[in-house]
Amino acid sequence: MLLVANWKMHGDRLMCDALCQAFRKATWPADLKVVICPPSLYIPQCAQALQGSDLAWGAQNVHDVASGAYTGEVSAPMLVDWGCTHVIIGHSERRAGFAEDDAWVVQKCLAAWSVGLTPIVCVGESAKARDEGATAAVIQGQIEPLMPHLSKDNPLVIAYEPIWAIGTGQAATPEQAQSVHALIRSELTQIDEAFAKSTPILYGGSVKVANAASLFAMPDIDGALVGGASLDAESFIQIGALCKA
Ligand code: PGA
Repeated sequence: MLLVANWKMHGDRLMCDALCQAFRKATWPADLKVVICPPSLYIPQCAQALQGSDLAWGAQNVHDVASGAYTGEVSAPMLVDWGCTHVIIGHSERRAGFAEDDAWVVQKCLAAWSVGLTPIVCVGESAKARDEGATAAVIQGQIEPLMPHLSKDNPLVIAYEPIWAIGTGQAATPEQAQSVHALIRSELTQIDEAFAKSTPILYGGSVKVANAASLFAMPDIDGALVGGASLDAESFIQIGALCKA
């Protein structure tokens, strides 16, 4: 299973050190991969703190161009330079606040793959779309543009994050999440069965210690993308302990 911490725009040097040290000291399930995504300014600090451990680190965003006049942006080669293995792409907060559309998500994934980074592509419907019965159409619409680019050489992680569940305390039920995860898995069989099986599909949106086990019990939930609860060492470590084999 895969457990990803998304610290969003939280923390300072003290917090990064405290969390990295706690995560280093923790005992994680043997077959669990853990990826920490701090704010980009703190990636070098976390890289140094996590170096030599089993924990990996990544970024919350990347630009699609390798270098150039893009004030304020960070490129994929820069992330690799600091040892990142993963990058979150298309989080709903970036889609809503920074005009990141499906076409740009594809460009960012291509930039990530070109340097060996694994994209963690976020998909998810709004409350309105769910109420209108449009969940499947939204998810399919977000995944379709990626399909021509996927292959075993261009692997990805998909995070299903219903917008109404992010930071609200109201997670999707295990059944709601499972039905979308199964849809995503079946979309991926268009590449081939092996690709669909080997692609981790994470659930994200108000994951906490109290709901993690029931979500992880679902057959198509391969782990979690955790926001708020990843800022509390004890909670995040406990969520890790609940990851099934
Ligand atoms: P949350 O955030 O766990 O705080 O709901 C998840 C995310 O946005 O990745």
